Amino acid sequence: MIKVNHLSKTLDDQKVLTDISFQVSEGEILIILGPSGVGKTVLLKHLIGLLQPDQGSIVINGKDITKFSQQQQLAMRKDFGYLFQEGALYDFMNVFENVAFPLREHTNFNASKIRQRVQEVLDMVDLHQVESKMPLELSGGMKKRVGLARAIVLSAKILLCDEPTSGLDPIRSHDISDLIRQVVKKIGATTVITSHDVINAFRIADRVAILHEGRMEVMGTVQEVSSCQDAFVKEFLQLSKV
Ligand SMILES: Nc1ncnc2c1ncn2[C@@H]1O[C@H](COP(=O)(O)OP(=O)(O)OP(=O)(O)O)[C@@H](O)[C@H]1O
Ligand SMILES: [Mg+2]
Repeated sequence: MIKVNHLSKTLDDQKVLTDISFQVSEGEILIILGPSGVGKTVLLKHLIGLLQPDQGSIVINGKDITKFSQQQQLAMRKDFGYLFQEGALYDFMNVFENVAFPLREHTNFNASKIRQRVQEVLDMVDLHQVESKMPLELSGGMKKRVGLARAIVLSAKILLCDEPTSGLDPIRSHDISDLIRQVVKKIGATTVITSHDVINAFRIADRVAILHEGRMEVMGTVQEVSSCQDAFVKEFLQLSKV
C-alpha cells in the first residue's frame, strides 16, 4: 500500500507539486493523467526516493520512505520496478543483459537461474528471439517491452511506469497497455502509471487521477472522473478522447 500525504515540491523556484495526497491499495493500478510538464514524472520519482519532498510524507507498507537513510532506500528499491519514460535501457548491453542486470545486482542467482528468469519475463512481455539484439536495433514498442521486462524481473511488489505509451502508435499503445494490466494483475504488483493517454488509461486503470497546476484535481474510478464537473477536467478529457 502506498500512502502519499500532503506532498509539496518546489524545483528551481517553481512550485511543481502542491499538497498532493492519495493512496494506492495492494495490487491496484492507479493512473495519473495530466498535460505535459505538470509534474507527473516528478511525482513518480518521489515514490521511489529519487526526489525528496519539501513537505509531506510517503508511506509505503507502513514506513515513511522520506525518512529512510540512503542504505534503507537502496534496500527498498529491490521491491520496486521502474519503467522510465525514455526506456533507459543500457545501449551497450544487449536485451538479455539489460533484463539480467537487476538479477546480477540484487540476487545470487547462478547463470542458469538468471537465464531461466530472463526467459520467463521476456515471455511474459511477449518478446521472443531478441535476447542478443542491442537496444538500437529495437523499435520503440519493443524497447518499452524490454523496459517492462527489466522492471518486473525482480518480482516487483510495486511497479512505477512513466508514460508507457508515449511515442507509440495507437495499436502498440493499446497492446502495451493491455500487457501491463495483464502482467501486473498476474504478479499482483501495486502499480502507479503516469500518462497523458486518456483512452488507454481509462481502459486499464482501477482508478485514475488528474493533475493540474501541481494539484490533484480529481481522483476516482473512471466513472467518477468522467462525471467530474471541474472545468479543466472536462476540457482535458474532452480534448484527449477525440
Ligand atoms: N530536476 C529538475 N530540476 C528542475 N526542474 C525540474 C526538474 N525535473 C522536472 N522539473 C520541472 O518540473 C516540471 C514538471 O516536470 P515533469 O517532468 O514532472 O513533467 P511531466 O508531467 O512528467 O511532463 P511530460 O508529460 O512531458 O513527461 C517541469 O516544469 C520541469 O521543468
Ligand atoms: Mg514525464
